[in-house]
Amino acid sequence: MGGAAAVVADDEAGLVRGFDLRALPPAFYEDPYPFFRALRRHSPVHRLPDGTWFLTRHADLFAIYRDTATFSSDKHVEFTPKFGAGTPLLEHHTTSLIFNDPPLHTRVRRLITGALTPRAVAAMEEGVVSLVDGLLDRMEEAPGGRVDLIEHFAAAIPVEVIGNLLDVPRGDRGPLRDWSLGILGALEPVPTAEALAWGNRAVVEFCDYLARLVADRRRRPGDPEKDVLTRLIRGEADGERLTEPELLQNCIFILNAGHETTTNLIGGALWLLCLWPRERERLLAGGPELMKTAVEEFLRYESSVQLGNRRALRACSVGGVELPEGALINLCIAGANRDPEVFADPDRLDLGRKPNPHLGFAGGPHVCAGLAVARLEARVALSMFLERFSRYALDGAPERDLRARFRGFGRLPAVLH
Ligand code: HEM
Repeated sequence: MGGAAAVVADDEAGLVRGFDLRALPPAFYEDPYPFFRALRRHSPVHRLPDGTWFLTRHADLFAIYRDTATFSSDKHVEFTPKFGAGTPLLEHHTTSLIFNDPPLHTRVRRLITGALTPRAVAAMEEGVVSLVDGLLDRMEEAPGGRVDLIEHFAAAIPVEVIGNLLDVPRGDRGPLRDWSLGILGALEPVPTAEALAWGNRAVVEFCDYLARLVADRRRRPGDPEKDVLTRLIRGEADGERLTEPELLQNCIFILNAGHETTTNLIGGALWLLCLWPRERERLLAGGPELMKTAVEEFLRYESSVQLGNRRALRACSVGGVELPEGALINLCIAGANRDPEVFADPDRLDLGRKPNPHLGFAGGPHVCAGLAVARLEARVALSMFLERFSRYALDGAPERDLRARFRGFGRLPAVLH
């Protein structure tokens, strides 16, 4: 091996040896991709110091997402010691569909996807366009054209879209984002005591609020074709109703699932377009087709959900490594999405990349149930933003959220003109 290549290999081996999801260095939060690249090259099915496994190869994740007979999404085993028996966080995270296997998963998923048909999602477009238009108008008035692209734009869209989906009255939407950040923040590998307290408080307040909303919706049902909440309350015609806790916790999950994730997709895309000016020019000159492939590339390149988890229900072999029954597995979506076996020149942002079989929405029976909504929001938000403010620039240092599971910004200061 030549000198420079040997140094890189040494550095990479060091990154792999020192990699500990429970004690990540600041450099990781700034740029996790060198860590994932090193792991994928040297130890793609890697045992972490806490005994769990960390997987970075696209083929391995792809197979695991589909094999639900071997790999469970049920999180009772992991979350009971993490959150504590009887805590609101434990009840929430073990009751939502994402962290369950059939039959609960199947029942809830059917109800949600029944309300998110392509027709229902297409009908949302008009509302998203007028929402984004209003935000752009307001940003145009910002003194000196200075805005925070997260607060004034990226975060302001999903809260309204998901609020509409469950028909949450406008005046009640204020606390939704904070509740969502608190509840999802508790999923970090090592949540602090404050993060756990915030998450527990958020679940209690959210449940109290939703119990009142549900009681009201039972008295005055909405249109089940559009209103996911009415649909969840009614259940399917064959009587597959949800219990009250199942109903409340899954509403919380839907409200949370589409918030931070979509905010990070839109915010991350606007940041990337500043780092890759030629790709920005390309997008400005391209038509709607290029915007569609661009959204997929943003999902691949800066996956807003970076990590997922599964538990092996029996001893199995993954990528040639034997895993024992009960093995806890971290699925590194962000690593798989830069796998050179699947993506040519994976560290290059290529807005026209096609095909682009990224795992940003995971895969298999748990594939994101809101992916069409997220795609719609990103496509409309980015197209309309670029039409209005094609020359926007970053204005000072962005502030990253220091999270391993969800990658995004707390603040993204920019100047629009
Ligand atoms: C860019 C935005 C989004 C990303 C990157 C994203 C990503 C994901 C991922 C990776 C999963 C699967 C996790 C796993 O099984 O390990 C998932 C599940 C889910 N997502 Fe999304 N999501 C986004 C937006 C949304 C939106 C807008 C909604 C609601 C309208 C939503 C609703 C859901 C639901 C209900 C599930 C659970 C599906 C199941 O377990 O069957 N997501 N999402």
